[in-house]
Amino acid sequence: MNTTTATQPVLQTHDITKSFGQVPALRGVSLTVGAGESVAIMGPSGSGKSTLLHCLSGVLTPEIGQVSFCGEEISSMSDRRRSHLRLANAGFVFQDGQLIPELSARENIALPLMLTGTKKSKAFAAADEVIGRIGLIDLRNRRPGDMSGGQAQRIAIARAMVARPKVIFADEPSGALDQATGHEVIQLLTTTARMAGTTLVMVTHDINVARWCARLVEIRDGLVHSDRRLDIESSKNNNTPIHEEVML
Ligand SMILES: Nc1ncnc2c1ncn2[C@@H]1O[C@H](COP(=O)(O)OP(=O)(O)O)[C@@H](O)[C@H]1O
Ligand SMILES: [Mg+2]
Repeated sequence: MNTTTATQPVLQTHDITKSFGQVPALRGVSLTVGAGESVAIMGPSGSGKSTLLHCLSGVLTPEIGQVSFCGEEISSMSDRRRSHLRLANAGFVFQDGQLIPELSARENIALPLMLTGTKKSKAFAAADEVIGRIGLIDLRNRRPGDMSGGQAQRIAIARAMVARPKVIFADEPSGALDQATGHEVIQLLTTTARMAGTTLVMVTHDINVARWCARLVEIRDGLVHSDRRLDIESSKNNNTPIHEEVML
């Protein structure tokens, strides 16, 4: 059932389990994600998607099993080392953007660089470059409260990309947007990741969002239920569901 990857693995879990008290969230998940892959994770609410994303990104540590990031075992690392690895190599996009309201778009985007010691002027230049690339330079000085949801989510994508991470983790990135805006935001996220060669792991409820990825992993009840490749080009031009069983 596992889809093996031809490229060098960027992320790998081996039989991970994670519970919250008596509630099992993951019950033995093994997954390998290659460099530059885009993977959609789907599954019913409460099936363990966010927990898996958090274990992959080192935010949570599984009780059993290993997680490796670019060949390094992260599940047994110190919190400090793991945080550093995450800051340097991972970008995050969440459902509601989670931009800092007091900061302008440019400051929000520059923040991950400044947190790893980049000088402000250099970080701002990098932020301007990314914001220009996605065509939102006019928003540079605007605060999140003065943007639409779609604009804020594009800024969140720019922030996730600015440090040129190896992996972007996205949890329901279009979940708070209307369908048309959500689609545009996902198009931006997947195409910029692909162009930069960045690996993308994206949780979504929406099969039309998942279609922008090259691979679909379905989680059910804390286990990998299916793992298959998607034909991105043909599926983009085709509105019929590719797999009825993942229409949730
Ligand atoms: N911090 C937490 N504390 C307690 N239970 C949690 C916590 N996070 C997740 N869970 C539980 O673990 C299971 C999987 O949750 P989650 O990974 O968030 O699912 P999904 O993202 O697929 O909706 C659910 O039963 C959920 O209630
Ligand atoms: Mg979730």
